[in-house]
Amino acid sequence: MAWQYSEKTKRIFMDAVQGKPGTHLGEIEDADGVGQHGSIVCGDALKFTFRVKKDPDPLKDVITEAKYLTFGCTSAIAASEALCALIEGHNLTPIQALQIKNQDIVDFLEGLPQQKIHCSVMGAEALEAAVVDWAQKRGVDLAAQGVKLTGAGAEDDDGRVVCKCFGVTEPYLRRKIKELNLRTIDDIVSALKAGGMCGACRYAPGGLQDILNETWGTGEPAPTTVAAEPVAEEGMSPFQRYRKIEKVIDETVRPVLKGDGGDIELVDIKDWTVYCGLRGACAGCMGASRTLQLIVERTLKDQVDERIRVVPV
Ligand code: FES
Repeated sequence: MAWQYSEKTKRIFMDAVQGKPGTHLGEIEDADGVGQHGSIVCGDALKFTFRVKKDPDPLKDVITEAKYLTFGCTSAIAASEALCALIEGHNLTPIQALQIKNQDIVDFLEGLPQQKIHCSVMGAEALEAAVVDWAQKRGVDLAAQGVKLTGAGAEDDDGRVVCKCFGVTEPYLRRKIKELNLRTIDDIVSALKAGGMCGACRYAPGGLQDILNETWGTGEPAPTTVAAEPVAEEGMSPFQRYRKIEKVIDETVRPVLKGDGGDIELVDIKDWTVYCGLRGACAGCMGASRTLQLIVERTLKDQVDERIRVVPV
């Protein structure tokens, strides 16, 4: 799929990958703030670092330099560049930098495709994690400064995992649904990726739709056609097993990979071993083998049988 990026996004991306002066790809050694967000499973992770000019009063520390490393596509790199550009050279203290939200990143890039909004969220989350790291190093009590954390490092984040594919917890979901005004499951998938793989968390009791309903008071009923909890089926013939694996790949795995410009080819099935390869954009992704083993295999285990093993070819 060819994404419709703004001219500014394309230019920022090209400048970054060519390492032009003023771009920020890299990592600051002995950084004063280090934050990470995302998962390399889909090549979609960000490590953000910044340096401050230290003041005897840490609250007056000013960010002077910012850099990032990302495993991601055009939008992940452009969003990371936007984050650095919004921070660097503006004499912001780390606490002031927290005012930068994902929408600021989207605006800086003059828009992002809806399916890529999660890249801007990833930037805001990595920034918050880096500020938390700086605060710990400098002995700053963020809560005492009136800072309310909303990212994965917030105090109450030790909750039930709602989306197992992406490790997203209930407290995090509840905060983000409100903060980002997420009204539908599609909104959640676009911003957080939760619900975007096997789909089991979407309409399960206590799942995404239930949390949306509790938050907004809407009451969209679960579609009756949604698959129930995947269960292993005993007694499938080899032919039936093959058809089921093919169906799960076609209907669940492939649409997600295509959403990121990739694809998957099912090459062979022998007993419980599935031989397949990533194609398109996913083929060159640094996290390709992990994508196969963790996401594709997990989905097939969930929806077909626990004994399935995926082998990249
Ligand atoms: S459990 Fe949420 S997408 Fe799989």
